[in-house]
Amino acid sequence: MARRRRIYEGKAKVLYEGPEPGTIVQYFKDDASAFNAQKTGVISGKGVLNNRISEYVMLRLNEIGIPTHFVRRLNMREQLVHEVEIIPLEVVVRNVAAGTMSQRLGIEEGTPLPRSIVEFYYKNDDLSDPLVTEEHITAFGWATPQDLDDMMALALRVNDFMVGLFLGVDIRLVDFKLEFGRWYDDNDYMRILLADEITPDSCRLWDIKTNEKLDKDRFRRDMGNVEEAYQEVARRLGILPDAGPQDLKGTKSIN
Ligand code: TMP
Repeated sequence: MARRRRIYEGKAKVLYEGPEPGTIVQYFKDDASAFNAQKTGVISGKGVLNNRISEYVMLRLNEIGIPTHFVRRLNMREQLVHEVEIIPLEVVVRNVAAGTMSQRLGIEEGTPLPRSIVEFYYKNDDLSDPLVTEEHITAFGWATPQDLDDMMALALRVNDFMVGLFLGVDIRLVDFKLEFGRWYDDNDYMRILLADEITPDSCRLWDIKTNEKLDKDRFRRDMGNVEEAYQEVARRLGILPDAGPQDLKGTKSIN
């Protein structure tokens, strides 16, 4: 079988050239990393679950008119997406203080924020993805003021929808990270699409009653029961693979 061209290998995913021009295959690995890859490990079955969870959330977002890169799921660990030009920003939306916001501003984790707050981080591993302002972004040309307006509006719509989606399964959406890309249609008209993934790797998800963490913080903070937390999110969303947890290994072969 012809080997596929590997375009990029990241910490949790591999990207391959897709079967048609303008498409990419996203392969979800079980590998996990935190603190700019200072901590690494494996969360068994994570790739299979994240593939499903991201598919599910992106499809629901599509239904309410949010343009996403998602085309279709191909198999246990792979999905076909539109090839986009990634905007080098991580867009974080926060509803409840946690993580770096709590550390930076001295706000106790779990404190509800007066309103949802959108932050931008410059995607640069050498600099550990620093927090940046709109001034930096437009001055250095990472995105235009119009791109920023579009991303901010989309991020807030995604937040409103996802807060409700997760609340419906007794989960509080504390915060999450989005990435966007530029995509050109057949008439060379540029649109901004939601790209990358939406999974427990990129969100903070707390049980609504107990505040139990159901996300990657369990790995970052060595809390144990990491696999179980990812499974619990998938179970509540009604998308655990048919054969249950024993079906999570999926194929390990990537080429
Ligand atoms: P933070 O509190 O570490 O800044 O993270 C905020 C949210 O963004 C949290 O849900 C985790 C997510 N995130 C990523 O998905 N990737 C990253 O590289 C970082 C720093 C955060």
